[in-house]
Amino acid sequence: MIIDKQSLINADTNSPSFTEDEFAIDWSMTRNERYCFIQLLQKIKPKIAIEIGTFNGGSLQVISKYAEKVYAIDTDASVKERLGSKFKNVEFLIGDSKTIAPQLIQTLQENNDPLEFVLIDGDHSTNGVYQDIKNILNYKPKTSLHIILHDSFNPTCRKGMKLYDYNKNENVHYVELDFITGIFSPEGLKRQMWGGFAMILMLAEKRSTPLKINESQKKLHNLIYLQSFHLVNNLFWFLKPLFNFLKK
Ligand SMILES: C[S@@+](CC[C@H](N)C(=O)[O-])C[C@H]1O[C@@H](n2cnc3c(N)ncnc32)[C@H](O)[C@@H]1O
Repeated sequence: MIIDKQSLINADTNSPSFTEDEFAIDWSMTRNERYCFIQLLQKIKPKIAIEIGTFNGGSLQVISKYAEKVYAIDTDASVKERLGSKFKNVEFLIGDSKTIAPQLIQTLQENNDPLEFVLIDGDHSTNGVYQDIKNILNYKPKTSLHIILHDSFNPTCRKGMKLYDYNKNENVHYVELDFITGIFSPEGLKRQMWGGFAMILMLAEKRSTPLKINESQKKLHNLIYLQSFHLVNNLFWFLKPLFNFLKK
């Protein structure tokens, strides 16, 4: 799966880059996402940030530049070995975000530390995405907290993003699943949908009106889904064991 996603991103980023000089580490995001990400971090300049899913450190290089302190969570222990010396303001936490994030959120809350930015880009299963949202949104913000969720255009991840009951959380003031739209590879058998940013904004003050869950590109998403691998995969899920058996 990840190889298909990477080749999609490589095709998208195979063009003159205006970010390479400053942010030389390769990252798993499209051109649109990179520009948006840099701009957001430049504006927010978070005191404290969390990244769930670091991989090569592409998105981390931007967060680290603009945040005062970053906690980077990844299951892959080599992340710390590879990147540990590169970023002075980053603390690497190795393990499953489902275990680490709740502990970290509790510590930040108890210490009155202002968490102001989170990137969720770790476990891409429906339940993985949902659990990360649930754990991060337990935080009661001191100021404003911007949360970016990568791969909102991917149907599996999007489903996880829609499982959380945002209206029940009074500190959530804005949700947009298509803050940045994702990409689709129409060729061959892959036909996969990836990328896209969802954005959640939490504020210290409580919301007094019902919340609208925005999906500004819902029609585009649903139209492409009908042509995608994901539709076939979801329709014929019961044939998977047979397919896996035949592949052996
Ligand atoms: C798509 S990559 C992150 C890409 C990175 N944010 C970027 O843009 O350059 C996903 C990362 O999440 C990590 N990961 C997967 N499941 C995880 C989990 N349950 N907890 C923490 N990290 C996880 C993987 O090891 C991988 O490094």
